[in-house]
Amino acid sequence: MNDGFLRNAWYVIAWDHEIPADGLFARTVLGEPVLVYRTADGGLTALADRCCHRLAPLSAGRKEGDAVRCGYHGLKYGPDGRCIEVPGQDRVPPRARVRRYPLALKNRWVFVWMGDPERADPALLPDNFSCDHADWCYLPGYMHYQVPWLLIADNLLDFSHLSYVHDKTFGGTPEIARAQPLITEIERGLRIAREVRNVPPSPYYQSFRPFDTPINRWIVYDFVLPATLLMHSGGRPAADADDDLRRAVQLHSCQALTPETATSTHYFFQESHRADQGDAQTRQRIFDSLLTAFEEDRQMITAQARNLALDPAAPMLPLAMDAALVRFRRLLQQQLQAEAAAGAAGAAGAA
Ligand code: FES
Ligand SMILES: [Fe+2]
Repeated sequence: MNDGFLRNAWYVIAWDHEIPADGLFARTVLGEPVLVYRTADGGLTALADRCCHRLAPLSAGRKEGDAVRCGYHGLKYGPDGRCIEVPGQDRVPPRARVRRYPLALKNRWVFVWMGDPERADPALLPDNFSCDHADWCYLPGYMHYQVPWLLIADNLLDFSHLSYVHDKTFGGTPEIARAQPLITEIERGLRIAREVRNVPPSPYYQSFRPFDTPINRWIVYDFVLPATLLMHSGGRPAADADDDLRRAVQLHSCQALTPETATSTHYFFQESHRADQGDAQTRQRIFDSLLTAFEEDRQMITAQARNLALDPAAPMLPLAMDAALVRFRRLLQQQLQAEAAAGAAGAAGAA
């Protein structure tokens, strides 16, 4: 399927807490409706949210123990996706089943594997450690975007926008846009590092501690396929040595984009502070700041998407600041081609 989505990859479908203890949860991923629910053994199962009878969403039905019953004409499915009961007939046709997706839970993120189940590899799960770590605290965030996911990835791959989109929140200084990021290739992605020295503390950092001097800031993040950002960032008084973190603000952020459809995207995010730096109020303040700043992004990117939709062929002007997003798009293309080639080889082998 060539719709620009990498299928052999883990996608975040939900925060762990979004899946009810005894109910059904549904979200569309890569254009496919997916149902997630908990089983009695404490596990989770992910099935196509589309009854094989007449395609009604199973999430509109009800959970019965570890099974789910379609709310339209009552077909009942086990957690492996096999239909186990058809009202009004004794025999269940062997084809009566829905797809089951490989699923993984790691550090509070629930991931689904949208491609070949044989290739679902837990080693490919991102290291979102600060989502579940005693040394780090945060509040979980989710936002829905009515734009294609790659436009949001572009935004996350180029932090020069911090100086402008977020000049009153994260950014606070034009120095971030001026600082050239160091971009290096890593396994399935890019590492992007930026450092700005001797800049005024942004309102965001001021909210952690009242810096009364300029600060040195660092932003180092990995952006890995399919679309996960894992970032260490922080700031310390400019007079302090680089390895002296006693007066530093230290943050770690995990963010993931999951395409919902070709033109809409789920955005999961958090930013953790060190457990010994701040309390519940700090946590709430960070969360509120993220919501404010990410709403700034959403407005800009949504307006950009509107322009793109009006004239999809309008040329763009490549600039130095686009280096990371150009490289990431190249990486994605390579992976998509590899996936298409593997799919074609698989199809030929099966023929
Ligand atoms: S659509 Fe599900 S039972 Fe008919
Ligand atoms: Fe932003």
